[in-house]
Order: sequence, then C-alpha cells, then structure tokens
Amino acid sequence: MDHYAVFGKPISQSKSPLIHSLFATQTKQSLEYTRVEPAINGFDSAIAQFFADGGKGANITAPFKLAAFEFASNRSDRATISGAVNTLQKCEDGSIFGDNTDGPGLVQDLLRLSIPLKNKRILVLGAGGAARGVLQPLMAQQPAILMVANRTASKAVLLASLIPNDKLTGCGFNELNSATPPFDVIINSTSASLTGELPAVELSVIAAAKYVYDMSYGDKPTVFMQHAANLGVKNVFDGLGMLVGQAAESFFIWRGVRPLVEPVIQALREQL
Ligand code: ATR
Repeated sequence: MDHYAVFGKPISQSKSPLIHSLFATQTKQSLEYTRVEPAINGFDSAIAQFFADGGKGANITAPFKLAAFEFASNRSDRATISGAVNTLQKCEDGSIFGDNTDGPGLVQDLLRLSIPLKNKRILVLGAGGAARGVLQPLMAQQPAILMVANRTASKAVLLASLIPNDKLTGCGFNELNSATPPFDVIINSTSASLTGELPAVELSVIAAAKYVYDMSYGDKPTVFMQHAANLGVKNVFDGLGMLVGQAAESFFIWRGVRPLVEPVIQALREQL
C-alpha cells in the first residue's frame, strides 16, 4: 500500500491523516497516511528515511516548511516564490519534488465561498510564513489591489517586494486608517488568533470590509471573526476550508485525482 505522512512538531493534533483517509475512501484510492514528529533538528534524516523506506509523499507543517523547501531536489514556481514547501513527492527517477499548496487551498476556498477576487481590493494581515505562501496565488486572481499589512511594517514591505507588481504593496497596520479606501476582502494570516489576540488594525478598516476570512479555525468563531462580526461585517469565514483545500491539492499531486472538499469540510466541522 502506498505510504504518505505528515511531518511537523507538534503533530498529534494534525487533521491531515483524517482528511486524507476521507479523500481516499471517497475516491476509492488505497493508501496509508501517518504522522511523524521529528526532533527539532531531525527533519532531514527523518524525511530521508521515510523516502528510503518507500514513502511516496509527505505533507510538511510547522516548523519544517523551510527545511522541506531545502530538501526538495526541484520545486514548483509557486513553492519557489513562497520560499516554503508543504508537499513533497517522490518521483519515478528518485528525485523529490516540492510544492506549496497553501495558496491554492486558500484561493479555492475563497472561490467556494463565492468571495469575489478579480478586480477587488484585498488586504492580507500578517507577513509571516502563512502570508508568504498565498500572495502569488492571490495575485493570479487579478485583484485591483493586494495590500499586505503587518505589525512590523518592514516585513510586509519586504514580502510585497518579492513579487514585483505595482498592484501589490506592503505597509504597517498604523498606515491603515479611516481615510483608507474600503477593502472588499480582508484575510487574517497573523498567528494572533492562536493566542486569542487581535491584530491592532483600526476598527473602521475592518468594519468597511465586505468579506472577512481568518486562516485560523476552531470549534467556535475565532476572536478575529467575532471582532469583525461585532463591527457589522456580514460575511465572516474561518480557514477550515483552506485546510481541506490545501490537502486536496496535495492529494491531486500524489494521486492525480481531485477529491470533493465539501463533504470533508462538513465531516471535520462536526468533529471540531
Ligand atoms: P506563520 O507561519 O503562522 O505566518 P510567523 O511566520 O511566525 O507564523 O508569522 C506570524 C505573523 O503573525 C507575523 O506577521 C506576526 O507579526 P510580526 O511580524 O509583527 O511579528 C503576526 N502576529 C503574531 N502575533 C500578532 C499579534 N498579536 N498582533 C498582530 N500580528 C501578530
């Protein structure tokens, strides 16, 4: 049976084994998918051993996405632009292909939720690894403006400069104010939700959005979602669909079959 695994630290909470087993059942594919938690400096040896033992492919999560990028012998353009790899595949010639499906997973989910992107004004909050992986796929949707705003302004400016395009700009949260033209879509990629904090963005900027999407998720709306809803934003979503979307894209890379995401999102939602 073909063997796949997710590598991360910690990894016990990962939903990837469940998601991929649901995909496998749905598409009638026979595969095994396990979890691996390498030592913090042990990713290279663990992943090399996995492939030496016949592993076909792996998902990579925090904190090993940069190490996976280095480990890959060749990479997709979107992985190269994002500087991070969340999907590895062993090719027939023995080489290891690295891809990043986080951005496609996000875009797929935004479109599934009927959130318009083309010619729209989009704001991404945060300039860490999560933001980095999604900029190029968002730009491919041809927004009118894609602005990256971060608590530390210099990181947003640097990130935006990686894709030279006058529609993509970076700034600090403090440069967003009531004079900023409203955004159609605001996407929270900061890790603030994980600690129950809110990014310090002026309220009027959030309140003016048509759609708010938080890449985090939980058994109840995240603090950022509650914040936006309290400010009157009508359409507020969490990132569970992005999680399933990035997994579906990995599954497609490995198996050549595109699973349906909707039933899997529903199954996961019931278990949160
Ligand atoms: P990830 O891979 O989840 O993006 P990361 O690379 O450590 O993690 O980046 C975390 C992001 O969340 C950064 O943009 C960080 O802002 P800074 O660059 O200013 O540190 C942002 N972040 C984390 N906690 C935050 C908070 N309480 N308020 C605002 N932004 C926060």
